[in-house]
Amino acid sequence: MNTLVILGAQWGDEGKGKITDYLAEKSDMVVRYQGGDNAGHTVEIGDNQYKLHLIPSGIFNKDKICILGNGLVINPKSLLDEIKYLTDRGISTDNLRISDRAHIILPYHIELDRLQEEKKGKNKIGTTVKGIGPCYKDKVERVGLRMCDIFYKETFEERLRENIRNKNEIIEKLYNGKPLDEDNIVKEYMGYLDEIKKYVVDTTALLNDSIEKGNKILFEGAQGTLLDLDFGTYPYLTSSHPISGGVSIGSGINPLKLDGAIGIVKAYTTRVGRGPFPTELHDKTGDAIREKGHEFGTTTGRPRRCGWLDGVMLRYSARINGLTSIAVTRLDTLGGFDKLKICTGYELDGKVVKDFPASLETLAKCKPIYEEFDGWKEEDMKDITKYEDLPENAKKYVEKIEEMTGVNVDVASIGPKRSETLIRTEFFSS
Ligand code: IMP
Repeated sequence: MNTLVILGAQWGDEGKGKITDYLAEKSDMVVRYQGGDNAGHTVEIGDNQYKLHLIPSGIFNKDKICILGNGLVINPKSLLDEIKYLTDRGISTDNLRISDRAHIILPYHIELDRLQEEKKGKNKIGTTVKGIGPCYKDKVERVGLRMCDIFYKETFEERLRENIRNKNEIIEKLYNGKPLDEDNIVKEYMGYLDEIKKYVVDTTALLNDSIEKGNKILFEGAQGTLLDLDFGTYPYLTSSHPISGGVSIGSGINPLKLDGAIGIVKAYTTRVGRGPFPTELHDKTGDAIREKGHEFGTTTGRPRRCGWLDGVMLRYSARINGLTSIAVTRLDTLGGFDKLKICTGYELDGKVVKDFPASLETLAKCKPIYEEFDGWKEEDMKDITKYEDLPENAKKYVEKIEEMTGVNVDVASIGPKRSETLIRTEFFSS
């Protein structure tokens, strides 16, 4: 197995950063294939904690090439801030490469994101307001600006000015908003893009050459399967494709060359933003999980909605992504609860439903059917280095995940530190 994708199996925030970082050490290249700085990864290395939004967590391994693929939408200002954040901490970004086909987020995308959300009122999506949706919209509308365009300054500026004028018309006429300052944006962003240029290359060639050489490549998904534009809880989702199917489109890898998909499953469910959430807990247990798990957004700081593990969702996710392996995170956070619940099916109009519905109206009517499990103590997980030594009840919980999805749980995470990752099967072995 040389090419692996690691992705969120739920609504994002499953704890991908740590596992990605662990696998990055074993790979030659780490590639992001979708999203932008709406993502947020926290990585702990030794006593240091790092928060990343855009750059793959593989950046901490200076020998690895880190790629921001064509499927991304990149805010140059955020990227430069992140590069500075890393270099200030002594971490080199010389190993970073940006796809010449990636799209550029500009201030009008962010302003439109904000105005659209405001106009939607109570029906707002709850976006991160990073301009992600509007930038992807421009890509589909074929008016977006790409990284390769910055090498042709004159035409780039012309198109940028035209876009600003068009967007200002929308901002003023449709949203009654204040127009953006054309000259300021041009000056500021042309400067940022000049600084970024040195990282921009044809990453598709780089990637496929590397695969042909037999190198190990890790694709790092952001967000999660249920936030996928096609297979998530539309319209309460992001505008990209976090699923394994997004890897080829978002990086240029030959789709037949992807060897495996690791789904990261948090031991309970969380979501940020709006939309139906069948296993959501509106009680003290939900609050306790949020507090104990520090379930507040890395990017926005918003409290995350918390609930029990949803097996219907996991089975759907395993099928859509073709998961070959699961990594369960946050078993420690569930430590200390007497009883735990896993949703094994939905009850809908008196019938048991096992497939995740497309319609949100249907999903909102689904009532979870729960199986109850005895809990375990967090202390019983201290200093464990082998999966076999986990408390019996935790193992039973994990076995239920395997039974519901038909996929092996190969990793169990019991804390934020690298040492708190119990590996049952090594990845990237031949
Ligand atoms: P957008 O990606 O900013 O357009 O936001 C669309 C939806 O995806 C909102 O519900 C966000 O809260 C959610 N979202 C975006 N990025 C993440 C993430 O990294 N983790 C969890 N949810 C996310």
